[in-house]
Amino acid sequence: MASYDPLVIREADGVWLTTTDERRLLDGVASLWCNVHGHAKKEINRAISEQLERVAHVTTLGMSCDTTELLASELVSCTPGDLSHVFFSSDGSSAVEAAIKMAFQYWQQSGHSSRRKTKYLALHSAYHGDTTGAVSLGGIEYFHQLFAPILFAPIRGPLPCSYRRPEGVSEEAACEHYASQVEKLLKQFHDELAAVVMEPLVQGAAGMITHPKGFLSRVRELCDRYDVLLVCDEVATGFGRTGTLFACEQEQVTPDILCLGKGLTGGYLPMAATVARPKIYDAFLGPVAASKQFFHGHTFAGNPLAAAAALASLSLFEKEDVLRTVASKAEHLHRKLDELRDCPHVGSIRGRGLMIGIELVRDRKSKTAFDPALLLGRQVCELATELGVWIRPLGDVVILMPPLSIQESELNILADVVVRSIRTVVNGIRNSPEISSPV
Ligand SMILES: Cc1ncc(COP(=O)(O)O)c(C=O)c1O
Repeated sequence: MASYDPLVIREADGVWLTTTDERRLLDGVASLWCNVHGHAKKEINRAISEQLERVAHVTTLGMSCDTTELLASELVSCTPGDLSHVFFSSDGSSAVEAAIKMAFQYWQQSGHSSRRKTKYLALHSAYHGDTTGAVSLGGIEYFHQLFAPILFAPIRGPLPCSYRRPEGVSEEAACEHYASQVEKLLKQFHDELAAVVMEPLVQGAAGMITHPKGFLSRVRELCDRYDVLLVCDEVATGFGRTGTLFACEQEQVTPDILCLGKGLTGGYLPMAATVARPKIYDAFLGPVAASKQFFHGHTFAGNPLAAAAALASLSLFEKEDVLRTVASKAEHLHRKLDELRDCPHVGSIRGRGLMIGIELVRDRKSKTAFDPALLLGRQVCELATELGVWIRPLGDVVILMPPLSIQESELNILADVVVRSIRTVVNGIRNSPEISSPV
């Protein structure tokens, strides 16, 4: 806050934000990766208003609202495989907390020998939210290290990164290389492991780290082989971001537990969901006296206004054939960003669908990072904001994640401003003596 330059939004429409000082900014990161159909979408606004006329909130503890029930059944229809039971909460971190506790309690109630399964395997550089359980799974030093004394320790898996691979590991061999590291850990720890928790295909907050194709399905196979649950966190990748409604679909994977948030309501209201397969649900059934119920709940879980927004958002996917357009929009954006291929400090332009990261590096060949103190990603984003595009970096990775509704002319503005901002910042540093000679 010491250096905060206030940016206050008065209203928004489509991909455009208007500030209180009358600036118009293109929302290049979908209001933190959650807006799907654009701002002030009339179908979503109307659904919320109509619900408001009926009932704004009732609890889901011991009762429910018909709108929330309808949403639960729609989610069961659109999520992969036999995912069949929905537990609502209010944000992505809570969806992950619920998944952590659900996996734990599942094994506690699945027989004497499985009670030792109390640990989690999380990937290197994982990000699953900012509440304490989610931070425990987290592996981003900058965000998480400080809290180490108050966290539980997961078993740490590899960073299945396609861009920076270990020496001697080719692109083709990368999937098997990383999968064998996971297998080694599962072999050693499966008796103690409740679940593997991972983002499928892309680790967003880690810097848009894209996994080798096939890695997710290999982890699914390994979890089956070693009797460990698979929890997929699709808080960022879900609801069309990667080109399919859920990223898991691209490798025909059904996780045992799926975490959803952000785009669930089209990015309009706080709501999240933890969706489980029948075998999980069944382990929580029993007579009242057996106390097998899931010991977790949030006051605003399943809020009807948020449920109405989510239902409207899901029907827009069909009505506007949203998924069909994501691939062509992503292709168009990549074509425009190709202009940066000749820029010596652009190491990688990567992502899936409209979930894109542009990594700035000191030396392209060795993929050496810049000194983080230079705050280059931040400089790029500040300049872009001056030029009319609001984006936020993750270190030196410039993130582009616009609403899926973005039109071609708006993609052109987004790309032009980003290219110009990167070129300007990079040209500035190239003239600095510290930077001009690559290591
Ligand atoms: C993969 C992933 N999981 C969980 C979260 C946490 O969601 P929330 O910020 O809604 O708590 C995020 C947020 O960025 C995320 O990217």
